[in-house]
Amino acid sequence: MKIYSLFPLVLLALLSSCSTTTKSFSTSTDSPDGKLEVTVFVNDAGKPGYLLRMGDKTIVDSSYLGYELKGAPALKEGFSVVSSSVTPFDETWDMPWGEYKSVRNNGNHLVVNLKDGSGRLLNLHFKLLNDGLGFRYEVPAQPAFADSIFVQDELTEFSLTGDHMAWWAPGDWDIYEHLYGTNRLSKIDAAARRNHKDLGCTYIPDGRAVNTPLTMKSDEGYYLAIHEAALYDYPDMTLHIDDDTPTLHSALVAWPDGVKYRGMAPFQSPWRVIIVGEKAGDLIESTLVLNLNEPNKLGNPDWIKPMKYAGIWWEMHMGVSTWDYAGSQDMTSYTKPGEMRPSGKHGATTANTKRYIDFAAANGFGGVLVEGWNTGWENWIGPNRPQKPFDFITPYPDFNIQEVTAYGRSKGVQLIGHHETSACVAGYEEQVDTAFKLYQSLGVHAVKTGYVGPLQGKGYYHHGQRMVRHYQMVVEKAAKYQISIDAHEPIKATGIRRTWPNFMAREGLRGQEFNAWASDGGNPAEHLSIVAFTRMLAGPIDFTPGIFQIDLHKWKPNNQINTTLAQQLSLYVVIYGPLQMAADLPQHYANQPAFQFIKDVACDWQDTRVLNGEPGDFVTIVRKEKKGDRWFLGSLTDENARSFDVALDFLDPNTTYTATVYADGPDADYKTNPTSIAISSMEVTAGDKLPVKMAPGGGLAVSFVKK
Ligand code: NOJ
Ligand code: CA
Repeated sequence: MKIYSLFPLVLLALLSSCSTTTKSFSTSTDSPDGKLEVTVFVNDAGKPGYLLRMGDKTIVDSSYLGYELKGAPALKEGFSVVSSSVTPFDETWDMPWGEYKSVRNNGNHLVVNLKDGSGRLLNLHFKLLNDGLGFRYEVPAQPAFADSIFVQDELTEFSLTGDHMAWWAPGDWDIYEHLYGTNRLSKIDAAARRNHKDLGCTYIPDGRAVNTPLTMKSDEGYYLAIHEAALYDYPDMTLHIDDDTPTLHSALVAWPDGVKYRGMAPFQSPWRVIIVGEKAGDLIESTLVLNLNEPNKLGNPDWIKPMKYAGIWWEMHMGVSTWDYAGSQDMTSYTKPGEMRPSGKHGATTANTKRYIDFAAANGFGGVLVEGWNTGWENWIGPNRPQKPFDFITPYPDFNIQEVTAYGRSKGVQLIGHHETSACVAGYEEQVDTAFKLYQSLGVHAVKTGYVGPLQGKGYYHHGQRMVRHYQMVVEKAAKYQISIDAHEPIKATGIRRTWPNFMAREGLRGQEFNAWASDGGNPAEHLSIVAFTRMLAGPIDFTPGIFQIDLHKWKPNNQINTTLAQQLSLYVVIYGPLQMAADLPQHYANQPAFQFIKDVACDWQDTRVLNGEPGDFVTIVRKEKKGDRWFLGSLTDENARSFDVALDFLDPNTTYTATVYADGPDADYKTNPTSIAISSMEVTAGDKLPVKMAPGGGLAVSFVKK
């Protein structure tokens, strides 16, 4: 029986604050603004734990920490405190690219050093900032673990104090491309979302587990998100939900033998992160995940460049052309390897690439992505693919890579390279040096990677420690060849972009491509209003917005895009990414006045503010461009029409701006009339209010330019 069906929440809060443990040690620190307080304790049995308060509210009640080990006693009890300290920190660092010009990293660092009965050491680190808490385990160098340590389970608890409303995706060990559920924690049924037919791989262990970021709203009104920061050489953390209490437990992705982490001392875990907000938008504005990462190792070289890009991409997802030369492949049919006979449907030809380069140059876009240029696409996906399907060096005969890159250079447009591995990682690791070297020699400084399908080797998963190492190896190697990475089917973002700013973007969600072929018809209208408050807390997204030909019937009779055209525009502001695609076919932008917004909108920012929003309902974000003083606004709604006013007090005072407004037409509706758009312009100042009126599945995009 669920406790929550018996007791009202107030009573429960009282009960939980009484359920304090007998503590032999306890120490606390505050956030700089005094609103949050973390207490770290060791109880009478020598079990370490923590609790987090905001004013008089307990956000996380006494929660224990520790490790279950394989081949050694657990590191979870019998500890005494060797020493503890609190060190304040306050620095401001510049983002080479991002949502802000600079970020303040201000808080208190509390360290508790523990020793157990056999002299084994464990250090706990807590960093409390105004926007939340980060904590991590450190196992320092010591004889007991000098050769090896095998973590069977990380025992981190998050003992929540209410049955919060949650926006969640299932704790899949292989892929993040799931729809989000919206339920109270007690009602989450991760199994219900397991059987997604379209995904080449998906593995969700038994039990109720969700992935992070997990976003929640309490009945008391505050918002919480749990995630992790600085995930290096360690498995991804999913969260397991207890059946009878709202306690979440870390549930790490395993190696084939069930071990979660293998290594030796010294090592440290990623930070476990609890972002706390009074408003939902505070979660989006938070920089906690970034602040918990190490400083930039690459500086601000000009080969790391935010840009808008076009690409030979949507045409394959529409089935207009193919990745493979023989023209037999599309996303849904797995055919046998054929002879290399051109069908006339191959997308990545020299001529087609030049057409896209012309389109990009004419519209000020910096890059053109070309997928399907290299040999191997005849049989790349599915269980019968060869061990090493792809050759990352040899182009198909109709793609002259030297010619297209030289052509691009002459027009100021760079090729964005593509390495689809189809999760055949060993073959990729063998070739990755030569492959990056080739791109570097051709002036290519950005590569999209992909990991479609199950990993080779039974019991290996995309989110396990082995693959975390792989993704990191690729980004560090890429840096050596002056290449930025946009990873699809990636490991989750955990703020590593601060340290490795060439890790620019990732997918890691159901992107636009699902609208092209998902057997459930595509992303529902509420999808992006959840993404903004969940996946986006992890970091930049390559969602691939900007589909203007919203009616897909001609190509995909059973698929559709559940947004209006104005919402497609709003995504350039709402869904942050430094590499923003204009994803549709060039011909679909011809004679479309709304295309002007995509040409105008920036993709690198000096400021970001969330004006309003609720997960799953709507959100409005304004961002100020990095190199200039234009502001852009994006607002989007779920399946419900919505109207409200937003204050323009983010604009400079005493200054007149021309606002160009791209709004849903009066008769717009994502189901019946998605392309109805009303474009108008007006003069505004910081004292004005802008009326926002959105259709079902709609959106709004505005540019503000000083007069
Ligand atoms: C899945 C990626 O998300 C998509 O963008 C890409 O086109 C295909 N894989 C093929 O690499
Ligand atoms: Ca994908």
